[in-house]
Amino acid sequence: MSKISILGLGAMGAALAATLIRNGHDVTVWNRTASRSEPLASAGATVAASPAAAIAASDLTILCVVDYTAAHAVLADAEPVLADRDLVNLTNGTPGDAKSLAAFLEAKGAAYLDGGIMAIPPMIGDDGALILYSGSAELFERHKAALNALAASHYLGDDPGLAALYDLALLSGMYGLFSGFMHASALVTSGGGKAADFLSLLLPWLQAMSGTLPDLANKVDVGQHDRNVVSNLAMQRIALDNIVRASGEQGVAPDFIEPMLRLAARRVADDHGADDISGVIEIIRPQK
Ligand SMILES: NC(=O)c1ccc[n+]([C@@H]2O[C@H](COP(=O)([O-])OP(=O)(O)OC[C@H]3O[C@@H](n4cnc5c(N)ncnc54)[C@H](OP(=O)(O)O)[C@@H]3O)[C@@H](O)[C@H]2O)c1
Repeated sequence: MSKISILGLGAMGAALAATLIRNGHDVTVWNRTASRSEPLASAGATVAASPAAAIAASDLTILCVVDYTAAHAVLADAEPVLADRDLVNLTNGTPGDAKSLAAFLEAKGAAYLDGGIMAIPPMIGDDGALILYSGSAELFERHKAALNALAASHYLGDDPGLAALYDLALLSGMYGLFSGFMHASALVTSGGGKAADFLSLLLPWLQAMSGTLPDLANKVDVGQHDRNVVSNLAMQRIALDNIVRASGEQGVAPDFIEPMLRLAARRVADDHGADDISGVIEIIRPQK
């Protein structure tokens, strides 16, 4: 069993600390608002007086605060004790945020692993929770057993920005799903339907359309979008235009769907109307 400190006891940090205590680890906690430590102290945690004291007390420190401004504020106090320490940061941010925090900590002699939590607090410690990691492979190997108690672990590589990149990519997929659901529900409810009833049609439709993703992913990776096309972009542009026009007729704002129409129309205007819809990515991805 390891000595582990948790800095930040919001909804997520408290769930991480409680899970590690349940798994028999020797847990030290610190939070800016001290009263949030009390339930964890009752469950067996030691409460540290400062981030520096918490970091000095343990083999591994896990940082989980609201954003990187808070993360830097917490660590500023701890600079003198950072040398030879292992630090895992599970605060959500961008790849650039993660890389600059990694550079700051490595300059102080600490090992750094970044993480992206793909779960909500009640899932921590249960099946279905996933944490993406990137950064120091040695740190990951040293503490893998303890980290696996929190969630399934998926290590992406030694670039500390990768966990944030993949975390935000997964969230992008989720927000695409939510925005599609909201536009579809606005259309259906504008015609007197119920969103809950509509799910019996929407869910199997989304399941069927997910089946096209392996082919689209292959086209994205190869960068060619004109093979085996069964639903060409010129046709899909008209469908998107029909959705926008129908939204106008129904009094539904087109804010979610209009950007997709604009991208499809640009690609068709650039003479790629015979391509698959995957070709739209060529407008938004970094240009070579
Ligand atoms: N909750 C989720 O569903 C979820 C899921 C995946 C990932 N995450 C990520 O987990 C991280 C924490 O989220 P959460 O849900 O625990 O948030 P939260 O409940 O709002 O807690 C925020 C934490 O940040 C601390 N904090 C804020 N500003 C600070 C500052 N300037 N200095 C020191 N500490 C500061 C707060 O301390 P005080 O108590 O003193 O205010 C608190 O411990 C975020 O990056 C979030 O994106 C959350």
